[in-house]
Amino acid sequence: MPIAQRKITVVGAGYVGMTCAQLAAQRNLASEIVLIDVAEGRAQGIALDLNQMAAVEGFRSRVVGGTDPAITAGSDVVIMTAGLPRKPGMSRSDLLATNGKIIASVAQYVRDLSSEAIVIVITNPLDTMVHLMRQRTGFPPRRVVGMAGILDSARFSYFIAEETKTSAVDVDAMVLGAHGDSMVPIAQYCTVNGVGLPQLVKKERIDAMAQRTRDGGAEIVNLLKTGSAFFAPAAAGVAMASAILNDERRLLPCACFLNGEYGLEGIYMGVPAILGAGGVQKVLEIPLDTEARIQLQKTAGAIQKDLELLRSQGLL
Ligand code: 2OP
Repeated sequence: MPIAQRKITVVGAGYVGMTCAQLAAQRNLASEIVLIDVAEGRAQGIALDLNQMAAVEGFRSRVVGGTDPAITAGSDVVIMTAGLPRKPGMSRSDLLATNGKIIASVAQYVRDLSSEAIVIVITNPLDTMVHLMRQRTGFPPRRVVGMAGILDSARFSYFIAEETKTSAVDVDAMVLGAHGDSMVPIAQYCTVNGVGLPQLVKKERIDAMAQRTRDGGAEIVNLLKTGSAFFAPAAAGVAMASAILNDERRLLPCACFLNGEYGLEGIYMGVPAILGAGGVQKVLEIPLDTEARIQLQKTAGAIQKDLELLRSQGLL
């Protein structure tokens, strides 16, 4: 199969960024994968390593690493991973000011050099960073989308698979709302090969798994001590890039800009959306039970609070 002549840029060559580059290359997702990082030598070294890995793995994507934004020009998709990760005891919101400045500087060169790109934001605190990226690029909201729901749903899926002693492949889980402590695991839309979760597991166990999902990122931060999760976040980001570049029209929970859906206006939040050519093709408004509806309003409040903080720092 010929490899598609297109370009993905991954911004940030930390663990998430380098894993994104690796997964995208192993999938032959683009003929050119650019990895850019402010640390001299880091992205270049990883690119060299990945290009040498191609000889063993047999992928055909070419990886380019560097520090100069010029190498990102003309990207079809930009995956934004740059920013500080959490340390034990920190909330994602503690990263607001530092990562906000990084988003602002990257947005500038994405706007100038890749004006047609679709941007997938992974940097935390996710819901505010994707908002800032959209505002600073000036791109239409369908071309700036945040990765979180797929990751949080994958965590929930894993816990459900363990609990029901089934394969995670058969589990469909849905987590909406903010990518933070107030995220909303939606038990009513979780199934194991079509069988509803409430039919398989008692409510108290579902609640415990939902809480472990909310704490899922922190659980890994506490174990790693010097960084946060990267395999699952990167896989989720690359799944979104693939859906967009190959027009897969996948229904995935993503942080999308809301225009009245779920009674919310003018904020980014995790909702089910169809991802395909052009980015977010449709935001789906699905019926929710009362508990989920109340939780979604709460989670929106948490995002508004972070946006206010960003405004008070003059970033938004
Ligand atoms: C996580 O939840 C990195 O925010 C990401 O692990």
